[in-house]
Amino acid sequence: MKVSVIGTGRMGGGLVRVLAPVAPGLTWGSRTVEKARSCAEERGLADVRPAGMEEALAADVIVHALWFKDVIPWAAQYEESLAGKILVDIANPFTADFTDFTLGWGQSAAERLQAALPRTRIVGAFKNTFWRVLERPVHEGLTSDVFVTSDDEEAKRTVLHLLRGLPFRVMDGGLLRNNRTIERMTLFERELAMRNGHYPYVSWRLFGRENDSSDK
Ligand SMILES: NC(=O)c1ccc[n+]([C@@H]2O[C@H](COP(=O)([O-])OP(=O)(O)OC[C@H]3O[C@@H](n4cnc5c(N)ncnc54)[C@H](OP(=O)(O)O)[C@@H]3O)[C@@H](O)[C@H]2O)c1
Repeated sequence: MKVSVIGTGRMGGGLVRVLAPVAPGLTWGSRTVEKARSCAEERGLADVRPAGMEEALAADVIVHALWFKDVIPWAAQYEESLAGKILVDIANPFTADFTDFTLGWGQSAAERLQAALPRTRIVGAFKNTFWRVLERPVHEGLTSDVFVTSDDEEAKRTVLHLLRGLPFRVMDGGLLRNNRTIERMTLFERELAMRNGHYPYVSWRLFGRENDSSDK
């Protein structure tokens, strides 16, 4: 199974770093291949393959690390290349000043993306994981939770399996509609972390569950 990450920003860089050990031949796609190459070199990721957009979209599982405002036009542009693929969506629909949401209560970015790409299987993940947590996933001996959602059970199982080796507790988060809650949890945790002085090192962990590593 070929895996790629799209975007060389904070989340893109962090996701490449954690995924590289579990996804041999991981491709790092950017609008500018040179940017992906220099980012991989800076991080010493010799096994990661830098690529332009079309080459990165040849993977079976594509993880985008784009903003919601950019991902819908991007999806329209690459609809054909994304058809038949699994696309992991990490976007949260926040306003530029992080004070509110750009979608109403009964909506989520993940569902919007699925509606925009009916021939692509969308899987939500990492929506609550702030970028600093990707650098240091274990805090006081605990790994943070990653909620994996999809309306396609097989696609969700594929991503759960892929993420099982990561230093996170990966959990089946149900259907895409649960992102109406999950995406809102991210803005709330951001506010809590800022109030308590540890932003952007913040993520969620569900209390009460057995300390196993992942859903099967
Ligand atoms: N920041 C966090 O801690 C955090 C936590 C959870 C979820 N998220 C979600 O993760 C996503 C990325 O956040 P980020 O903080 O990593 O953002 P970022 O640092 O600004 O990176 C975004 C990347 O998207 C690519 N990009 C920008 N404009 C584009 C366009 N018009 N078309 C295609 N690609 C474009 C760029 O990569 P190239 O130049 O290489 O193309 C850019 O580096 C957002 O949806 C956010 O809601 C972020």
